[in-house]
Amino acid sequence: MLQHQVRKVSEILLASTLVWMIIGCKSKVEPQFPPEAEGTTVVLLSDHWKLEQPGAAISVKDTVLHRPLIITHTRDGKYHAFDAWCPHTGCPVSTSPAPGVENLECPCHSSSFDLEGTVQKGPSPASLVEFALEVRGDSLVIDLSNRTVRKGG
Ligand code: FES
Repeated sequence: MLQHQVRKVSEILLASTLVWMIIGCKSKVEPQFPPEAEGTTVVLLSDHWKLEQPGAAISVKDTVLHRPLIITHTRDGKYHAFDAWCPHTGCPVSTSPAPGVENLECPCHSSSFDLEGTVQKGPSPASLVEFALEVRGDSLVIDLSNRTVRKGG
């Protein structure tokens, strides 16, 4: 009787371990996109003089997502807001490579994105996640609940 119970417990432990290993492995393989968030965040242009120049990019800390956002000012005069999370495996993308280079680089495995967030060089399988942004005077109002996810370029 005791031997039967021990064998039953061993089977349950083995099954639990296998399930845990399958779930754990799967979560390491699949790229994790940032969790969805609600609300808006505001970035004041007057606090970030670097953004005045087209071709600029800055990183700001967001108080809703609790991680950096990337704000870019493209040559056509538009502003863009991205989650800084690289779609490959989630490293924060850098906003300041070499002077004069208008690409966002991921320091982990060298993926590259243009200032519109489009992936230029992998291994990232997707472009940066972009949030809707509206310019209101001196304010960039970023809607964290309105995001665009693009696979590839
Ligand atoms: S995490 Fe960015 S390229 Fe791998």
